Amino acid sequence: MAPQHPSAAKLARVAKEAKACTRCPLYRNATQTVFGEGPVGAALMLVGEQPGDQEDIAGHPFVGPAGKMLDRALVDAGIDRRQVYVTNAVKHFKNEPRGKKRLHKKPNRYEVEVCKVWLAQEVSLVKPGLVVAMGVTAAAALAGRPMTLARERGKEIAFGEGRRGMVTVHPSSILRVPDKAGRHKAYAGLVRDLKLALKVLQAA
Ligand code: URA
Repeated sequence: MAPQHPSAAKLARVAKEAKACTRCPLYRNATQTVFGEGPVGAALMLVGEQPGDQEDIAGHPFVGPAGKMLDRALVDAGIDRRQVYVTNAVKHFKNEPRGKKRLHKKPNRYEVEVCKVWLAQEVSLVKPGLVVAMGVTAAAALAGRPMTLARERGKEIAFGEGRRGMVTVHPSSILRVPDKAGRHKAYAGLVRDLKLALKVLQAA
C-alpha cells in the first residue's frame, strides 16, 4: 500500500468536521456537506461554486451535468481527474424548493465568507502547485476581492500570499449557452485554460 501523505489524516478530520457544519443556514435545505475530493499533494486544485442537485444527493463534487462537462474538458486537456483535487467554495447546495424541483440559488457574500474556513484548510493541507477557480464565486472566495473573468482570465494570478492561481469559466456556464456554436466556443475556452494551467505547472 502506498504511504499516506502526512496531511491526509488531518484533511480527513477537517472533512469530518465540515460534515457537521452549521455556520450558515444553507445546511438546512441541503442533504449533506459536499467536501472536496482528490489526493493530498495534488499539483492542481479545481474550485467550483457549490454542489448542485446531484452532488448534494451523491455527496461528491462535480458528478452531475457540470461534472460531466468538466470530465470531458479534463480529458481533452490531457489531465487525469484522479490526480486533481476538486472542491467548491461553498460546501452545501443552496436551493429553493419549487414543487418537486429544487432550484439552484447563487450563494451570497456571507455564505461564501463563512464557508472559506473549509476551503482555506483544503488549500493549506493539499498544498497544490496551482489553484484554478472555475467561475467568479470561487475566484472571489480565493482572492478575497471581487473578480471578473474578463480581467483575470488566461494569466497566472495570486490567490493570497504566494498561492499561484488562475481563473476560468464554470463548466455549468457552458451548459447554459443557448446555441451550439457558442457552446462549442465556450467549451474550447475551458479546455484552453486547463491546458494553460498544465503548462504553468510544468514550467514551475
Ligand atoms: N457546480 C459546482 O460549482 N460544483 C459542483 O460540484 C457541481 C456543480
